[in-house]
Amino acid sequence: MISSWLSSARHAVVLTGAGMSTESGLPDFRSAKTGLWNRFNPQQLASTYALEHQRQSFVEFYQYRIRTLRSCKPHEGHAILADWEHRGWIKQIITQNVDGFHQQAGSRHVIELHGSLRTVRCQRCGNTQDSEVYLHNRLHCECGGFLRPSVVLFGEMLPEDAIEKAWQAAQKSDLLIVLGSSLQVSPANQLPVIAKRNGAKIVIVNWEVTELDDIADIVIHNRKIGDVLREIHHELKESGE
Ligand code: APR
Repeated sequence: MISSWLSSARHAVVLTGAGMSTESGLPDFRSAKTGLWNRFNPQQLASTYALEHQRQSFVEFYQYRIRTLRSCKPHEGHAILADWEHRGWIKQIITQNVDGFHQQAGSRHVIELHGSLRTVRCQRCGNTQDSEVYLHNRLHCECGGFLRPSVVLFGEMLPEDAIEKAWQAAQKSDLLIVLGSSLQVSPANQLPVIAKRNGAKIVIVNWEVTELDDIADIVIHNRKIGDVLREIHHELKESGE
């Protein structure tokens, strides 16, 4: 069913969350046993408060995340989405992830709602550098400003242009596929609601139940995203698309 919806969609959009990258080895945030927020307190480590008042633990937390990120790479599911974009089956990916895996796998139309852990940004002059500098304890810009990861911290607004583009994509979509998000965080979790209101079909592929299962046309739980994407991809190829 999903493969036929994909091949006939006018403007299919994919919304990904941290569950899209667990098969690459990156932990998500809220999975019962392995979620990052079960081991670390986001308000103490990933917030504007931590940036200003807990600088040492803030830096150590992001050194851990940057080191983990650089030891992982996109998996086949990311490559399949890039292929679907290339074939015109999907138009955009809106991601809550900061790992850059969609772009590394070849996707070009990616909207990063929560920024990117691939770079750090100077608080004083705005200059960005590769986040690898954190792993060499280079925490200050040539201008003397502090370098912070280019991600949206708890307590910060999302980038205006990313929100604008994501809203437009959701409004234009006639098929929105959610992959690996608990849909607990706003404003990303508004996107399926907007798409639905504009008549789009909604598909949710997520191991656990999500906040928006009741508005979805198809929900797939207890299956790995990689397996589901491989299955859909196989169906599309079989049908001669
Ligand atoms: N296949 C299918 N589902 C999976 C897989 C997988 N391989 N791995 C994990 N999941 C599911 C989990 O069951 C979970 O419900 O992915 C979901 C990920 O949800 P979260 O951990 O809440 O991540 P996300 O929805 O992306 O969080 C949104 O919260 O903390 C902030 O900024 C952070 O971008 C993040 C935002």
